[in-house]
Amino acid sequence: MKNINGFKKLKSESKKISMVTCYDYWSAEIIDQSDIDAVLVGDSVAMVMHGFNTTINATVDMMVMHTVAVRRGLKNKFLISDLPFLAHKKGKERLVDSVDAIFKAGAEAIKIEGADGVLDDIQYLVSSGIPVMGHLGLTPQSVHKFGGFTVQGESKTEAEKIIVEAKKLEDSGIFALVLEMLPSEIAKTITESLSIPTIGIGAGNYTSGHILVLQDMLGLNEKFNPKFLRKYFAGYEGIKLALNDYNIEVKENLFPSEKESYK
Ligand code: KIV
Repeated sequence: MKNINGFKKLKSESKKISMVTCYDYWSAEIIDQSDIDAVLVGDSVAMVMHGFNTTINATVDMMVMHTVAVRRGLKNKFLISDLPFLAHKKGKERLVDSVDAIFKAGAEAIKIEGADGVLDDIQYLVSSGIPVMGHLGLTPQSVHKFGGFTVQGESKTEAEKIIVEAKKLEDSGIFALVLEMLPSEIAKTITESLSIPTIGIGAGNYTSGHILVLQDMLGLNEKFNPKFLRKYFAGYEGIKLALNDYNIEVKENLFPSEKESYK
C-alpha cells in the first residue's frame, strides 16, 4: 500500500494487513518488490542492528538515520517510524522537532507506545496532520516497568485496562493500533470493538494484520525463539554456510576462478 488509506481499505474489505520492520537500504529494496503491505522502522533497531538489550537506547538521530536509509530503498510502500523512548516527555517543542526530523527523513506516520500520558500528544500530532499509529500490550520502551518482555493483559484488571486504552487511543485519532504480546481473546475483543485496524505481534490470529521483525522472520537470530515467532527462512544457518563455503574456496585457491578474473 502506498498511503494511509490502504489500512482502512484492507480492514473494510476484511483483508489481512502484512507488515515487517526494516532498518536499512538493501532490505528495503527487497521488501519494496515484495507483496508486504507496509513497513515499520521500529525502535527495535537499537537491539537488532546496534546490539543493545532494550529499545531504550534508540534515539531520534538513530531513527532518522535508519528511516533515511529505508526510504531510499522503499519507493512504493507506506513507511511508519517509531518515536523513540521519552522523545515526547520533554515538552511539545521536543516532540514536534523529533517528529519533524523523522518525517523529513522519509516517514509518513509515527508510532507511539502506550496510552496513559500520551493521549494529548497524539491528539496534538493528529490535529497537526501527522498520522499516528498506537501500540499497546507489551510496549518494549516500558520493559523495566513490566520486569521483562512478557505477555501482558493476563489478569482481568489488566485486560480491561488495555481494552479501555485501545478505545481512548482510537478516540484520539490513531489510524491503526499495534497489539504486542497479548492473549488472543483480548486482541480479538479490541479488534472487534475498534473501527481502525489492529496489527498483532504475539497477539494471536484475530487482529486485522500482523507484523514481524524482518530479521526474526528470516531466522537470522538463532537465539530468539519466542512462541509467537514463525521463521520463514533459515537465515542464520544459510549465511554461516555461505561464509564457510567462501572461506574454504579462498583457502583452497578455488576462488576466484578464470571466469571470475579479468584478462
Ligand atoms: O520496534 C518494533 O520493531 C516494533 C514492532 C515489533 C511492532 O515496535
